Amino acid sequence: MKKVVLTKKGEVSSEFKVIRPSGALKGDVSVPGDKSISHRAAILASVASGPSEFSNFSPSLDCLSTLTCLEALGVEIQKDGNRVSISGKGFGSFRAPTEPLFCGNSGTTMRLLSGLLAGSNFEVTFDGDASLRSRPMDRVLVPLSQMGLKIVKDGPPPFTIRGGGLSGIEYFLPVASAQVKSAILLAGLQAEGKTIVIEKNPTRDHTERMLSAMKAPIEVALPIYDRSTLEGRLAKEQGADKRISVTKAGSLSPFNFEIGGDLSSGAFLIAAAVLVPKSKITVRQVGLNPTRTAFLNILKRMGGEVSWKIEGERCGEPVGSVTARSSKLKGVKIAGGVIPNLIDELPLLACLAACAEGTTVIRDANELRRKESDRISAVSANLRKMGVKVGELEDGWAIEGPAELAGAEIETFGDHRIAMAFSVLGLVAEGETLIRQPDCVEVSFPGFYETLERLGQ
Ligand code: S3P
Repeated sequence: MKKVVLTKKGEVSSEFKVIRPSGALKGDVSVPGDKSISHRAAILASVASGPSEFSNFSPSLDCLSTLTCLEALGVEIQKDGNRVSISGKGFGSFRAPTEPLFCGNSGTTMRLLSGLLAGSNFEVTFDGDASLRSRPMDRVLVPLSQMGLKIVKDGPPPFTIRGGGLSGIEYFLPVASAQVKSAILLAGLQAEGKTIVIEKNPTRDHTERMLSAMKAPIEVALPIYDRSTLEGRLAKEQGADKRISVTKAGSLSPFNFEIGGDLSSGAFLIAAAVLVPKSKITVRQVGLNPTRTAFLNILKRMGGEVSWKIEGERCGEPVGSVTARSSKLKGVKIAGGVIPNLIDELPLLACLAACAEGTTVIRDANELRRKESDRISAVSANLRKMGVKVGELEDGWAIEGPAELAGAEIETFGDHRIAMAFSVLGLVAEGETLIRQPDCVEVSFPGFYETLERLGQ
């Protein structure tokens, strides 16, 4: 339901999605399969020794980019709706692609595949869309070259690498990034000796869980704090490090499972239910991995009526349901080690803060400037357009609420999470909110607008 509108310059454009104030949202809903898990399932299945099959595979454009790149490497993939079958032929079975691997908008595709292909003795060029071309790749190329990867043409994309002859390293992650961690682990499975990745602030751990399920040679050492000693209490306070080690994998067991829904997509619906009066929704069969649920904890801390229950486990990943009701929110401070566990939800939390009583301060989130857009400046500019008082900080925001929200023309910068966060805010703004480049939501959540509309009927 995109509308043809006159832009400010008087041109006709059909590039907007119009969001209007909504009635109560009600009902049960499911969201597309988890994007992070789908990428990893496809990538790891491609080097397993035998066929794997996944249902509820993410229909996102990002995961399609991963499947397309794997096909270009000679991997046989069958797709039937959201069911994906992959015929794994083990490490060393890829053929050199004839064209650059085009990763679209997907940083996960580019970074994880760089780690995987660090083990293949051929040249490969990676490329992506304008947004991906501007994102930092040295964070993976530096550790991978320490392991022996040859950089034929350095990043930013397009860049060219030649893999093979890897040795293990011990690497302390300088930025909290699950993509970088995963790239190093994928290379480590093909390297001589031991590869150890050390994390100060634990990031999403889907790669570790999946590798364990595939019986890979992986060990995870979580810090144990002895609270009876001063050293132990200090270590807990400062957050001791998590160490993940892998050694060369002869083979990985193929695997089959149903991928849980993506909580990062569900978050937009949960937030909408919290904001729109008289709403109550339940998101079913959604992933509840503890490295992904910080959004729910913070929402609760803001006064949001949200509850969740783990109902099962799939491939080592907890899955369950989340219920959210309309609630009165208050401002909070969000900073420190929790940030990597809600990095994708921060633009949405900033929008929720605009409706919360008091000041919300979000810090330590510099990484947001290196996502699909500079999300700190994109959120500040759009919140201001809607009438919100916001202070832009180098590493976050200070947001005053509750604001009297006025519908506005939202510049998404083609960033799916900006489009969805401001669509949610548009549901409780006065007048119409126009979302520019609305189709970018397909990057993670095809059917987002239709799902919102269904819940509002
Ligand atoms: C992801 C990790 C995060 C996240 C991205 C998906 C993953 O990125 O923002 O949407 O699947 O590993 P970083 O690792 O760059 O923080």
